[in-house]
Amino acid sequence: MTTRIIGTGSYAPENRVTNDDLAKIMETSDEWIRTRTGISERHISSGEGTSFMAAEAAKQALEMAGVKAEELDIILLATSSPDKCFPSGACEVQAAIGAKNAVAFDLSAACSGFIFALNTVHSFFKSGIYKTGLIIGCDELSKLVDWSDRRTCVLFGDGAGAAVVKADETGIKHLIMGSDGVKGPVLECVSRTTENFLTKGHPQVGYMTMDGQEVFKFAVKKVPECIRQLLEETGVDKEEIKYFVLHQANYRIFESIAKRLDVSLDRFPMNIDRYGNTSGASIPLILDEMNREGKFEKGDKIIIAGFGAGLTWGATLMEW
Ligand code: COA
Repeated sequence: MTTRIIGTGSYAPENRVTNDDLAKIMETSDEWIRTRTGISERHISSGEGTSFMAAEAAKQALEMAGVKAEELDIILLATSSPDKCFPSGACEVQAAIGAKNAVAFDLSAACSGFIFALNTVHSFFKSGIYKTGLIIGCDELSKLVDWSDRRTCVLFGDGAGAAVVKADETGIKHLIMGSDGVKGPVLECVSRTTENFLTKGHPQVGYMTMDGQEVFKFAVKKVPECIRQLLEETGVDKEEIKYFVLHQANYRIFESIAKRLDVSLDRFPMNIDRYGNTSGASIPLILDEMNREGKFEKGDKIIIAGFGAGLTWGATLMEW
């Protein structure tokens, strides 16, 4: 028994912010952003909230799958930017869609979150505990980025993507996940600090900080490494893979990974130009876009791979 995606959905806030819009409020330019990242615009929340975006993507995925919310056994929301410390965003989605029979919780693995969530639900399916699940990747990083730090804020956008999964005979073939907490400080966002009434301090709210070059080096080394491992351990040739659906972080990261794997760049679907890096949402968002465009046919082999804060990374080989 394995795990098959039977429906996808996505949501992005209506508010589109172009590079030129950013150049009006900070010292940057469309040329700088596009040539270094491939990003032209991103969707930025006007207050939609993570749970709302996640629920909208979820509704679409359920509709495509033809699955009723009450049939769901498990809801996993991969996010680093929930609206509340508690209840979890997954529980809020559960309430919004009426999935009264599901267990719901959040999973934190930043931009690797969707893959970690998919692989976690897959383990429940393999052990026979659950049969029908909803996996959502959703982030509203616009509330975590430091808008005075042009080195990071131009990279990110908000959005959500979702997949309904079912225990089935075909689907996930193999998976890899990894973490390296020692390297965590290269990409982090400190939560509310412990100052309080008793310590006579005021809690500080942290913003995202990033060592861009370290993250770049990590991504272009780790992703090809785990894709190669995935291919080796399944005995699948890279030429059998129709698409390498990667976390949408940066066009130059794609170029470098494609070169290292010696695979043509056109097998790496991209929508980073229109969304920027939407963190946990990026993989399900592009999966939904491709799915609705009819890019996947039954039996297609695809690899999805993600990397991000933690540091974390993961890859999954699946048959559509
Ligand atoms: N607009 C204009 N200039 C900018 C800028 C911006 N938005 N951001 C940085 N610069 C400037 C810097 O101040 C620096 O100027 P200086 O040389 O005068 O000091 C110059 O551009 C180069 O900055 P640097 O940070 O060295 O650029 P880079 O070539 O490393 O590119 C990234 C920066 C962020 C695009 C690149 O490191 C990257 O893509 N890293 C991966 C990040 C990522 O994907 N993170 C998420 C992973 S999930």
